[in-house]
Amino acid sequence: MPMNVSVVDLFAGPGGLGEGFSAFSGKRSSYPFRIKLSVEKEVSAHKTLQLRAFYRQFRKNVPLEYYHYLEGKISREQLFSSYSVEAAQAIEETLGGPRALGDKADDKLIYKQLRNLCKENGHWVVIGGPPCQAYSLVGRARNSGIDGYAPENDHRHFLYEEYLRVLTTVEPQVFVMENVKGILSSKVNGKHIFPTILDDLGNPRRALKKRGGYKYKIYSLSHDDSEGKKGQVGAKYILRAEDYGIPQARHRVILLGVREDISIEPNRLTKSSLPQSTAESVLADCPPLRSGLSKGGDSPDAWLEAVEGAIAKISKIGIKSGIDVEPLISVAKKAKAHTSRGARFLPRKREFRGDEHAASWYLDEGLKGFVNHESRGHIVDDLTRYLFCAEYARQKGGSPRASEFPKALAPNHANWGSGKFVDRFKVQLAGKPSSTITSHISKDGHYFIHPDPAQCRSLTVREAARLQTFPDNYFFEGNRTQQYVQVGNAVPPLLANQIAKIVYQVLSV
Ligand SMILES: C[S@@+](CC[C@H](N)C(=O)[O-])C[C@H]1O[C@@H](n2cnc3c(N)ncnc32)[C@H](O)[C@@H]1O
Repeated sequence: MPMNVSVVDLFAGPGGLGEGFSAFSGKRSSYPFRIKLSVEKEVSAHKTLQLRAFYRQFRKNVPLEYYHYLEGKISREQLFSSYSVEAAQAIEETLGGPRALGDKADDKLIYKQLRNLCKENGHWVVIGGPPCQAYSLVGRARNSGIDGYAPENDHRHFLYEEYLRVLTTVEPQVFVMENVKGILSSKVNGKHIFPTILDDLGNPRRALKKRGGYKYKIYSLSHDDSEGKKGQVGAKYILRAEDYGIPQARHRVILLGVREDISIEPNRLTKSSLPQSTAESVLADCPPLRSGLSKGGDSPDAWLEAVEGAIAKISKIGIKSGIDVEPLISVAKKAKAHTSRGARFLPRKREFRGDEHAASWYLDEGLKGFVNHESRGHIVDDLTRYLFCAEYARQKGGSPRASEFPKALAPNHANWGSGKFVDRFKVQLAGKPSSTITSHISKDGHYFIHPDPAQCRSLTVREAARLQTFPDNYFFEGNRTQQYVQVGNAVPPLLANQIAKIVYQVLSV
């Protein structure tokens, strides 16, 4: 019999984790994981989440209008009103709007819907993780010794309890919780809090001072426990995304909780047998774009002038810049061809360069190009640095460290040489997985420099989304800053998809 699994996605962001589960197909069941409820409080992330919930209603038969919306030909209202049944379903699944766990009025609605849904028997899975700040305040009892500290007023503290509360309400067979590595080193009163978290998750009702209920066993999903043997508390729970075919080095703590009445030792993720997925393989077909000029007026001519100025400046430094400056002549030539900064939709001009598996994951025949692919503006000094860094990386195979920066190009920080800024500029090297895409990408592009020196820019939202393994038809709503935050916050869907397989195996027994 096909298996259906109901999923509750908490702190859902744009839905990366949920996407991986939803896209999973098992041997006996196609798409066994059905998201029943997603909770997200931020308006733009919620809008993204809701659009994706709408898209999923159609599975393989996505209507043309969806692509028309992505291309900017029709409005979201037009799309939703053309498919009102599917839209209503997506709206219900995402609680009708952004909702904050821990907010009294929102909780009322969330729990009402949860209790209703849970009347359905069958398999349940809770996914998601409370935002990391919550953990610095987990020492509930210990904090009570602090003058004036009132845990009930501490919103972040409340969030963690909300997670436990949802577990005790849904009593899922399995939960998956993701967080940053900082959760492992967080201390309260000099004591690590991670063991307390494991303890609480192992017995959520007791943690909430309630009786009865299920206990959970917490497992690591990593294929390799050696991290855990180095002595850091909880290190065995760290997953290195690049080990599992993700073109990005992203190290996160992921806990798999299995209810005590399910007596199965879950499998681990298997180290990818595919060739290492690289930044180049997933960026190469994105249309090349020029960056913009954030000051002094932007136009293709002004930009080209700035690029030529940058090249002249680096060439003047010559060999002392640490690179051979000859190839900059061809960079200038190539830059001339880059006149576009992108648009809501850009048609595809180049072939995808990843392998077959990646192609089937990212590409969609219905979408004939790229969305969320528009470049940012940079000040001329940063544009010059990006050009230099990208050419340096091309020649030397690594980004220049602060000490390798020519003085004339170094940022004007009083303590630039202090060691604090050693890796301030990072090029995403063509032949390697990228560095971690974080929400910091919304603030500046220094850590996220495109490998092509002739484009002189930081990554676009789509390129960041590619490195995070979002399919190309995953559309990010909101302004560009909000889109970057959403992408940077997410769990790579392709990693989540592999986790879903393990959860499916646990539930299949
Ligand atoms: C790390 S992101 C989640 C990423 C998500 N798991 C994914 O894979 O895309 C955390 C999200 O929690 C949301 N959030 C923070 N506090 C919340 C609350 N009280 N209720 C609901 N969502 C909240 C934030 O807006 C943010 O989008």
